[in-house]
Amino acid sequence: MAEQALLIIYGSATGNSEHIATQLHKKIQALQPTDSTFTPAILLDGNSCVKTNLPNWSKSPTSIILITSTTGDGDSPENISRLFRTLKRKSSAVDKICGCVNFCVLALGDTNYSKFCYTGEVLDKKFKECGGTRVMPLTKADEATGLEEQVSSFEDRAYACIKAAALGQDLSDVDVPPPAPNGDTPKITNVTAPTPLPTSTSPGVILLQKLCAASSLPDPLTFDISGEEVLGGLQSSQASSVALDIQGKGEEGGSSLNGYPLSLNDSVAESGTITSTSSHTHYTRQQPYSSPITSARYLAGKENYGKGERRVIEICMELPDDFGYEYTPGDSVGILIPNSPESVNSIESRIKGESVMIEGEEFGKDGVLRERVNFNGVLRRRELIGLSEACTDPSESTCLKYLGSKSGSAIYTKFITANSLSLVHLMEFFPSLSPGLEEVLNLFTCIPPRYYSVTTSPLQNVKGVGVAFSVVDYKMEVNGDRRLGHVTGHFEEICGMYLRPDPRFARLPIALRPKLPCPSVKIFPFPSKHFKLPADPSYPIVMVGPGTGVAPFMSFINHRKFGRKVAKHETEETCEGEWRGGFELEGEELAVGTEDAQGYRSSKEIGESHLFFGCRTRKDWIFEEEIKAFEKGGELTKAHVCFSREEGEGKYVQDLMKKEENAEKIRDLIAKKNGYLYICGDAANMARDVLLCLEEIFDGCEGGGGGKKMVEKLKFPLILFCYQLVPDN
Ligand SMILES: Cc1cc2nc3c(=O)[nH]c(=O)nc-3n(C[C@H](O)[C@H](O)[C@H](O)COP(=O)(O)OP(=O)(O)OC[C@H]3O[C@@H](n4cnc5c(N)ncnc54)[C@H](O)[C@@H]3O)c2cc1C
Ligand SMILES: Cc1cc2nc3c(=O)[nH]c(=O)nc-3n(C[C@H](O)[C@H](O)[C@H](O)COP(=O)(O)O)c2cc1C
Repeated sequence: MAEQALLIIYGSATGNSEHIATQLHKKIQALQPTDSTFTPAILLDGNSCVKTNLPNWSKSPTSIILITSTTGDGDSPENISRLFRTLKRKSSAVDKICGCVNFCVLALGDTNYSKFCYTGEVLDKKFKECGGTRVMPLTKADEATGLEEQVSSFEDRAYACIKAAALGQDLSDVDVPPPAPNGDTPKITNVTAPTPLPTSTSPGVILLQKLCAASSLPDPLTFDISGEEVLGGLQSSQASSVALDIQGKGEEGGSSLNGYPLSLNDSVAESGTITSTSSHTHYTRQQPYSSPITSARYLAGKENYGKGERRVIEICMELPDDFGYEYTPGDSVGILIPNSPESVNSIESRIKGESVMIEGEEFGKDGVLRERVNFNGVLRRRELIGLSEACTDPSESTCLKYLGSKSGSAIYTKFITANSLSLVHLMEFFPSLSPGLEEVLNLFTCIPPRYYSVTTSPLQNVKGVGVAFSVVDYKMEVNGDRRLGHVTGHFEEICGMYLRPDPRFARLPIALRPKLPCPSVKIFPFPSKHFKLPADPSYPIVMVGPGTGVAPFMSFINHRKFGRKVAKHETEETCEGEWRGGFELEGEELAVGTEDAQGYRSSKEIGESHLFFGCRTRKDWIFEEEIKAFEKGGELTKAHVCFSREEGEGKYVQDLMKKEENAEKIRDLIAKKNGYLYICGDAANMARDVLLCLEEIFDGCEGGGGGKKMVEKLKFPLILFCYQLVPDN
């Protein structure tokens, strides 16, 4: 039988699909020495296959496993957008461009968004319409309920199905585990039946036994998980035996590991970071800009520093002066922070091995742990299973296996999820756990970037970009220790010179204070396709953004304010100076970004704008001064504000929206005047409630066909931050 090509294609905005594809690729590679069905499996992003691979899909047999998320408001991730557009354009009757393709698709998404798994759905449909053979039904994994079980079910079945199809076998005869309907996990085999273990002195084992007893769950040491499939697909035994194999190439063509650039030590990291002002640089996650932080201030909770109470900070980061970093309101900034030296120190001695070889180059343990391994993230089940084999104490090993198994779901949630436990914590609880460096590198993802909505407008500030965030700071139930967010906690520390200035100099004007070196961070643009102001500023806008959800709206309102200023300035004066973004600047006085201020030049009035904001108490009201000034200046028609823990007109933003005069206003602006409605904030609670409230508001609207239908028809951008466990209001 002739060997045929096997492609694992991914489309990923924040790294999940890319990681899943990479792990699956490794797993398949581990099988390939004894399985000659395919030529060596190739891992690549969706854009990379359009020119080189796609032209062959109608000519030579190709098997494709496609893994893609959906981003924005039903958009395809940037790195698969070319494939998406190409296939979407093809007409089914004419173009059988996938005539020789067997395929299966895993779609990642989040049911909080209206277009759940849209990219995966479209690609699955288009592959079929273009002549491809679907070897298994589309699998959808929902971030809202946890991706893991659907993903591992897909991993278990995809290769078996695609292989059977390639061999021409009848798919109904193929012996594959059944799909996991809504998270059911298939059975497995590889765990041997336990022999009763002696009582353990391990703090982790004792704690788990206590937690299980308190919740009437089976004892982790005696519960029989033999015959049950462990989650995660990539078994640790395979993980450790798979040689570090680097196939992917970074977007910029550099070497990459798990699809990420090799930035494992200072020298390599620095070479991937652009600090010069060379023109035409396009900054990306692979090639971030090293940006000095030029200011930071507490927007709320200054007095709570060190006390574990809520605090919100705004920071401003410098942009390159060659305009190599562009953004518009609604975009976010991606921020990359390595692991702290303290957290590396806390686990380093427990990780076996001093270095790893990657593409013939040796990388030291310290650099690998600091720059690459996401060991501060919440432990996933697959990681627990992998780590279980690195315990010398058999009772610890059994407990970790149990935690990673389907049967251990309840205790996993109670122990790992509820406390957001990471490898650092696990090592404290399980003293015999001592994995190898290579194993850790294989098991864990790269440190993911965090994203922050911009608060500034490029029309207002060409030199820098602002973001606002609440500091993640909470007590872990399990041991009472405090945990700070990887990025937000880091910012609060490195910005100490701004946030907690030396009291000896506090009274001096800033210019006279001793100059301290500016901290800097690696940043890259994370544009948003739909979370944008209407191009025509005369359209009304309604913005719903409680808590830090108000951040992008500060950028929106600033943009309208400065857009008007730019236009006014232009008509009043003959400008001289730099040409940029469609109009001229006068020195540095009028800083202008690349967003064209075209719309603001027309004589049309700027549309009405309403902001619905809520927080716990008046003290938590962030950007209060700015919001009031916007109202006074006419840039904001009205701010509707509520405090959930104070007496007032309403507790939550939904209460304010439902008030008769506000509901009437929303109906008028959105349904009659074609206004835009934006929601931003906590995905888990607020967004759903606001959508329900909108249904109520639009119910009975003329010609609307009911509130639910009306909300479905509305084309409003929605941006959800899934970052808070505790809602703001
Ligand atoms: C497009 C986009 C835009 C965003 N914009 C903003 C923004 O403008 N402002 C903003 O503040 N955030 C924003 N976020 C979220 C932001 O990217 C980060 O996720 C957030 O700041 C946390 O990062 P961190 O590294 O500090 O925390 P991490 O180290 O990642 O910790 C966060 C995790 O801690 C755990 N956790 C938090 N509180 C508790 C608790 N009480 N008990 C147990 N576990 C807990 C949860 O598992 C949570 O996921 C945005 C996200 C996206 C995707
Ligand atoms: C800014 C943003 C927008 C999103 N939009 C959608 C969407 O429209 N539909 C959907 O099903 N999921 C959406 N999601 C959820 C992602 O698809 C999900 O988080 C997925 O795990 C991300 O995978 P990736 O890291 O490979 O991009 C969105 C997530 C983010 C952060």
